[in-house]
Amino acid sequence: MTASRNIELADRLSKMTSSSTLRVLQMTERLRAEGIDVISLGAGEPDFPTPENIREAAITAIGAGFTKYTAAGGIADLRRAIIERMRRDFDADFGMEEVIATVGGKQAIFEAIAAIVNPGDEVLIPSPYWVTFPEVVHFCGGTPVFIDTEPEDFQLTAEAVRERLTPRTRLLVLNSPNNPTGRVVPPEEVRRIVELAAERDFRVLIDDCYLYFVYPPVEPFSAAGLPPELASRCMVTGSFSKTYAMTGWRIGYALGPAEWIKAMVTIQSHSTSNPTSISQYAAIEAFAGRQDSVREMLDEYRRRRDWLVAALNEIPGVKCLLPEGAFYAFPNIRGLLSGDLPTSRALADALLEHAGVAVTSGSAFGAEGYIRLSYATGLDDLQRAVERIRAYLDRR
Ligand SMILES: Cc1ncc(COP(=O)(O)O)c(C=O)c1O
Repeated sequence: MTASRNIELADRLSKMTSSSTLRVLQMTERLRAEGIDVISLGAGEPDFPTPENIREAAITAIGAGFTKYTAAGGIADLRRAIIERMRRDFDADFGMEEVIATVGGKQAIFEAIAAIVNPGDEVLIPSPYWVTFPEVVHFCGGTPVFIDTEPEDFQLTAEAVRERLTPRTRLLVLNSPNNPTGRVVPPEEVRRIVELAAERDFRVLIDDCYLYFVYPPVEPFSAAGLPPELASRCMVTGSFSKTYAMTGWRIGYALGPAEWIKAMVTIQSHSTSNPTSISQYAAIEAFAGRQDSVREMLDEYRRRRDWLVAALNEIPGVKCLLPEGAFYAFPNIRGLLSGDLPTSRALADALLEHAGVAVTSGSAFGAEGYIRLSYATGLDDLQRAVERIRAYLDRR
């Protein structure tokens, strides 16, 4: 194909940027192609295989011929399994018209925002934030308005939300446990935030991607279980990717008011048609089947977290809070920044080039002065990575 030049891209793309986590991945691949050994702590992807009972359910589905289009919003059995699971775990009360199965949590988030955000609307996004949120808001013509949670140790409060409200506020995005900080918003604060949404008439998108990845004494909590008059302010999106190590299956869900869900089904019906039929059957087993593998993975993540955070805090110039959920450490590295390493991105680049360790710069998440290290990587590699980082910093 001949190279095409000067393609006039649509205006809606003008403010979107490509993922900086992808940039780290590309640089890692380049170094590996040169034969350099790189330990990657960049990816937000479980290093465990998808549990066997889930894989078996998919194979059975293929054998039974469930390989055709499905209803756009997902098969009834999966939607029922999602409703049931949320009822069992959080006493949530949703009907079949209030749930949709999607191509990963990401599609649910995209559709939820696209369905209600008009050009000019403001969308509140607590920072640090997952990279996709502001990009989707931009795509929809909305304006992201960031709430800096750093002064509160990354804890989002209803008061901080209140301060950023304007007559144009349409939506707040709440991600707990948070990527990248691992912070969990306590249930009573979530409630206060949703009460504020009811009082001031805006909606809340709750991203429950890491819902089941919380470490004791913290327990899973979903806004899906709030009383109906509050839950109906929210769209709760979820994912099978992390909980069940199913990133490649591309399956997620959303629960919310019927009208909002219906609009999301319309978008879905004209984009992906439906989530992959086989993945939908796998997801039923994930939610309804045995959960021992989730507990095992969580125990292992917790072991890694405890080791990694302690090891990071031993490095002079590094301060790391203990994450309450998800699988990321998000240390403050301002004490390491100076002359030739003025920014977290410069540090991340230097760690990759000179220590062979891939991490993500905090600036990608709206938090300069931090880096993100994923501990969805075996303890051996984590230990080697920290040794390399220490050795590099000692050499400087
Ligand atoms: C905070 C957060 N939300 C949502 C997602 C979407 O995950 P998926 O589309 O794989 O379900 C991710 C993935 O990294 C995430 O980190």
